[in-house]
Amino acid sequence: MTVVTDAQADPRTPGQRIDQRGRAELEFVVALRTGMTGALRPKVRRRIEESGVLAPETGIDTADIVAVREAVDPVVEAAAAHRFQAASLRWSREISTPRGVEAFDRRRELLEPMATPSAPVEDLTDGDVPRYWTYEFHATEGGWDGHDHMGFVHHEMVYQYLLTKIYGGGGDIFALRRAFADRAPADTYADIVDLGCGTGQYTLKLAEAYPEARITALDLSQSELNYAQRRAEDAGLDISFRRAAAERTGLPDESADLVTSYILLHEMPPHAIKSVFAEAYRLLRPGGHVHFGDVGAYATRSGYDAWNDDWDAEHGNEPWWRLAATTDIAEIAREAGFVDVERYELLPGGHPMGTTARKPLQED
Ligand SMILES: C[S@@+](CC[C@H](N)C(=O)[O-])C[C@H]1O[C@@H](n2cnc3c(N)ncnc32)[C@H](O)[C@@H]1O
Repeated sequence: MTVVTDAQADPRTPGQRIDQRGRAELEFVVALRTGMTGALRPKVRRRIEESGVLAPETGIDTADIVAVREAVDPVVEAAAAHRFQAASLRWSREISTPRGVEAFDRRRELLEPMATPSAPVEDLTDGDVPRYWTYEFHATEGGWDGHDHMGFVHHEMVYQYLLTKIYGGGGDIFALRRAFADRAPADTYADIVDLGCGTGQYTLKLAEAYPEARITALDLSQSELNYAQRRAEDAGLDISFRRAAAERTGLPDESADLVTSYILLHEMPPHAIKSVFAEAYRLLRPGGHVHFGDVGAYATRSGYDAWNDDWDAEHGNEPWWRLAATTDIAEIAREAGFVDVERYELLPGGHPMGTTARKPLQED
């Protein structure tokens, strides 16, 4: 491994934005997580499979996640590999963002100019944000806006530095967002609204996939939005970012052809998901589409995957994941007035899952 000292590091190079101490701390987390997923998860999985508690003859339906957990938890709790995996996952999640924040603050003078947009993104919330949004998702201390540059910390340090190594072998872990953007029902759109855009990971892929479209992207996190705006400016893209709730966008009626989101819905309770579909219906012109990508439905996952998703969500500060994975999203879409509702698996195995639907035309 090549060691780059702080004096040699060029902050314009993504892997070198973090100082040496920060890189060492995050590399330790990477080693722990890759060792864990590489060596321990398969062991735990084998143990579950060999126990037979999810075998077809037990009659357990994966949609009944309480029954799945009751069957599997006692088996894994007895396994040292699982206990180590549980402890290290919890610990690595708890420390990743604070270490990123500290690394940012140590180099604030250097990094702040790279993190700041030409002007802060406009806040349309009037301070009225849903209570569920203030939860510390993924164990992020202080929540989405727990630091004035949390967007930069999440994007550059947690996602680009840590998660690309844990999940992507250094590759583009955001390629799936581009693949998802390409799966929207029409080939072109004039006006797209991206809900829960974060630092623009999906928004920028939408801009690639639909270069002619006017894109409006909303989120509730000021710091995520500010860095999204900065990323768009750096890429030479004209995207309209606003701080607003997905269920109360403040945008005009019938002003969009596509209302979309990627991994937003599992971060809200079912009543808010219903409000998002209602808001999308209001925003769409007749014939327009929704296209929402989110967590796989437990009912179509294997027993092991459903257990693993649910266990991970419980230990990864994802309070609404289980409900999103067991709520009938297609039914919510139909209740909101949509037609041609379809659910599809973006990847084999059933996670993530896409939902597409159409606002009917008058003549329908
Ligand atoms: C997991 S991130 C996904 C970000 C982005 N779509 C992506 O592909 O990486 C979820 C985002 O949804 C935002 N969010 C959660 N609830 C929201 C709501 N009701 N309205 C707008 N944004 C919301 C959070 O602030 C966060 O930035």
